[in-house]
Amino acid sequence: MAAMMRKHQDRCAYALSIKPTGRRRDGIFFTGSSLAESVSASLGGRLSRTSVITDPACGSGDLLIACARHLPKKRGLWETLTVWERCLQGADIHQEFVDSTKLRLVLQAVALGADRTRIRRDEITRLFPKINVGNGLTAIDKLKNSTHVVTNPPFAMVSVSSECEWTSGIVNSAAVFLDVTTRSIEPGTRVLAILPDVLRSGSRYLKWRELIASRLTDVSLSMIGQFSRYADVDVFVLRGKKRASVTAPSSSASLQKQARHAVARSTVGDRYIVHVGPVVPHRHKRAGKSFPYLTPQNSPPWETVTKIDTHRRFSGSVFRPPFVVVRRTSRPGDRHRAVCTIITGHANVAVENHLILLIPHARTLHACQELLRLMKSPQTNRWLNHRMCCRHLTVSAVKSIPWTLESA
Ligand SMILES: C[S@@+](CC[C@H](N)C(=O)[O-])C[C@H]1O[C@@H](n2cnc3c(N)ncnc32)[C@H](O)[C@@H]1O
Repeated sequence: MAAMMRKHQDRCAYALSIKPTGRRRDGIFFTGSSLAESVSASLGGRLSRTSVITDPACGSGDLLIACARHLPKKRGLWETLTVWERCLQGADIHQEFVDSTKLRLVLQAVALGADRTRIRRDEITRLFPKINVGNGLTAIDKLKNSTHVVTNPPFAMVSVSSECEWTSGIVNSAAVFLDVTTRSIEPGTRVLAILPDVLRSGSRYLKWRELIASRLTDVSLSMIGQFSRYADVDVFVLRGKKRASVTAPSSSASLQKQARHAVARSTVGDRYIVHVGPVVPHRHKRAGKSFPYLTPQNSPPWETVTKIDTHRRFSGSVFRPPFVVVRRTSRPGDRHRAVCTIITGHANVAVENHLILLIPHARTLHACQELLRLMKSPQTNRWLNHRMCCRHLTVSAVKSIPWTLESA
């Protein structure tokens, strides 16, 4: 297993060694496990041993791995992999990413508790025969037999063929992926796609939105904000289900309306994972590893903390910056109801339970700064005063704060 891990690291190093121009051309910006986990969590209750989940541009498998966590697990490694093999399909134009996806799925099965078994490297590349090198835009058979399609397609600019129904010239390849996907899947198939914000908001994509809305029902959009610290592009998640019969594209059915509606409804909970700090000082023993320890006393209001001097042993959940903490203690009449601090740095942090922490899906400092701007605004203050009356802040209130910044 150690040798496999080394090989896997070599492959990841390969991805990192692709020059920025090559990464941009092929759209090589991976979802990352925390965003993949949070967007795929909504599929959790729906996946079973009969599900067939396809990622037509799977990269090194972040979305497929997040879905595999919701599939049945067996006691033995081979039995678990046999179930997962039937359920998972994928394509990528790079062999290294396909191999990496397979290896990571094996490691995920072990991490979830499957009994370890000796497994040779060449056996791994033969596993998952439906995850292979190929063009996701022509993998029509895979799309047709899917119950779910999950995708974070490449965002590079490409020119469309003369047969394209909704545009001509150069467009974002994510729009082309969604066009092909929603055309090829069967009625009832669910789609979950991470897409660049320009598809939701750009006038260039008005016809595309109408087309997608004519094919999908139960559509919902959630805004995520900046994709990652490496890819400075705002993204949203589109969820939907293929209609039983496709309606004619029309502006009345357009995603434009749903997009506007979704923006109006967009909340802090769509963009940040919100938790109460788990350390209860008088209940939890000082046991386990020692971590930087955050409390209201060492979280100066509206500042950015780069180094935490207090430490505490803790054996529960700890959190990797960047994130924002908000004091739970708050009263009407306070100048600000939600008093925030940004936490940066590289070490995991233990957080006391007088603080609520907000981890941006985008995992960027920029997303933390945007949140501070929102929390300081008079609209948020008014909204919290109305919602919370005399009570202290709760996780559900913080999650429901409307996202009123223009960047939404
Ligand atoms: C934005 S990454 C996303 C990868 C993965 N789905 C994830 O969520 O991490 C896009 C991937 O699409 C691949 N790609 C680009 N063009 C493709 C095509 N025509 N068919 C299949 N994969 C493609 C790239 O190699 C890259 O790994």
